[in-house]
Amino acid sequence: MCGIVGYIGQEDSKEILLTGLEKLEYRGYDSAGIAVRDEADTNLFKVKGRIANLRNEVDESVKANIGIGHTRWATHGEPSTTNAHPHQSTSGRFTLVHNGVIENFEELKRDYLADVNFVSETDTEIIVQLIEKFANELGDALEAFRKTISLLHGSYALAVLDRDQPEVVFVAKNKSPLLVGLGDDFNVVASDSMAMLQVTDQFVELMDGEVVLVKQDNVEIQKLDGTTVERDPFTAEIDASDIEKGTYPHFMLKEIDEQPFAMRKIIQEYQDDNDEIKLEEDVRQAMANSDRVYIIAAGTSYHAGLIGKEFLEKIAQVPTEVHIASEFSYNMPLLSEKPLFVFISQSGETADLRSVLVETNRLGHPALTMTNVPGSTLSRESDYTLHLHAGPEIAVASTKAYTAQMAVLAILAVDTARAKGLTLDFDPLKELGIVGNAMEALCDQKEEFDQIARDYLSTTRNCFFIGRGLDYFVGLEGALKLKEISYIQAEGFAGGELKHGTIALIEDGTPVIALATQEHVDGSIRSNVQEVVARGANACIISPEHLTREGDAFSIPTVHPLLAPLVSVLPMQLISYYAALHRDCDVDKPRNLAKSVTVE
Ligand code: F6R
Repeated sequence: MCGIVGYIGQEDSKEILLTGLEKLEYRGYDSAGIAVRDEADTNLFKVKGRIANLRNEVDESVKANIGIGHTRWATHGEPSTTNAHPHQSTSGRFTLVHNGVIENFEELKRDYLADVNFVSETDTEIIVQLIEKFANELGDALEAFRKTISLLHGSYALAVLDRDQPEVVFVAKNKSPLLVGLGDDFNVVASDSMAMLQVTDQFVELMDGEVVLVKQDNVEIQKLDGTTVERDPFTAEIDASDIEKGTYPHFMLKEIDEQPFAMRKIIQEYQDDNDEIKLEEDVRQAMANSDRVYIIAAGTSYHAGLIGKEFLEKIAQVPTEVHIASEFSYNMPLLSEKPLFVFISQSGETADLRSVLVETNRLGHPALTMTNVPGSTLSRESDYTLHLHAGPEIAVASTKAYTAQMAVLAILAVDTARAKGLTLDFDPLKELGIVGNAMEALCDQKEEFDQIARDYLSTTRNCFFIGRGLDYFVGLEGALKLKEISYIQAEGFAGGELKHGTIALIEDGTPVIALATQEHVDGSIRSNVQEVVARGANACIISPEHLTREGDAFSIPTVHPLLAPLVSVLPMQLISYYAALHRDCDVDKPRNLAKSVTVE
């Protein structure tokens, strides 16, 4: 949520910053800006809207080899040019970009900056004004930076330019991700390594409570007390082509198509030489030692967690609860004696999850993070990590991470069951291979989903998804996908639940998408469909080949019933994709959203 870049070196920084921001645009895209320091002064370029607009705004004649940039997802203050970052101090000496939320900005404003004329409505501006105030008082920019960050409460990743010291970018972070990238004769700053893969694959992680001086030929990490910290760089193992669209019109479509490959990658990564499940022994032990699993997640990852509970309970007989992270933080249930917390997060950066993790770490409970980004904050701060191996997910609407989450949850459940000595008629790695093939078959039938989207969704105001058991949870995900990218009001319901109120909304032609993949509830979900059809609904039944009946809208390949969600969600993803296209929506960057939600 919000993306930061910085560069210091010998090249003209503008293009490196703009390209970096384009790679980070998935983190927020309501406004953007860069500040570059040339011989004369700091030049500021800011716009409302996308990086493409910023490119038009930037004065090509300015050449500067130091600069910072930002792409914003508004928290305090509406999206506007004034509220866009970078922000400058009153004299123009300091220029700053910020990702995060400063919780005590009003107190700081009142206590330290009562006489300052603020130009924006952001919480960020107080940071740059504080730096200027303290620099004037203390006569030293670094001391001023240190003093400022010691006063901040909340989350931040910061990069600051000082007009009087054009040889350094000051950097610090708390709770928000930030990396320094290393190069020959240059160094860079980025919220995510993706932004700077164009120039380097060597990165240094920064920790909370550090102050970092990024210069052209060296990077100095200091603790707040001034002592120096040495830290080795790591190599970012992302293939630059993974973060390009290639010939696809949208990242979402590319990522939907990548799901069969992700299944094969997961099988490869979680299979040992004897074709058995390969899992770290300490993860196995953590599962064995716990009496109850608490899954914590948000959005699509929460929906994967709901399926994960079914896997853990049905396959491994482990009592499991699933909680929405933002609710759990403030309303913790009574915990069992030996809880294991499982955090499911594509990005590994979601602030709502992190605040739960901080609390469970404080209470001394073990934590396992399942993430697509192993070096992410949640991964670093948990005891154990299971990698999703889905490859970078750029589209705001999550697709391949969701199916990867379910696949890894199934593997974890089977491994736990085997460790407990339970007899199973289920080889998840083999079954996931079958799932991969089924996904591939569906990806080859895009025209049919395009047609379903046209027939059912091109003009509708709302849409309901129904299912029973596992299908209910996939329906919740289908509704989320549809609403977030097409803006159709969509809700998922347990099949039997509509008639307890929501059926009042069914009118002539209201689309109801029904999932019918579970044999033991086939009769009852079909009765629920009849109930809505009798009231005028336009029902679209999606069923597996062995359960398909005449009149069903689409037949998906049959896979193991427990893994049916990994396959039945593809029609949901593709129908949503085409519905959004037909309604002229920005598929990869839906309004008001951002990919990685790093504020609570
Ligand atoms: C929806 C979507 C979001 C995320 C949610 C959690 O398509 O992507 O609902 O699933 O913001 O994000 P992660 O998994 O990164 O913690």
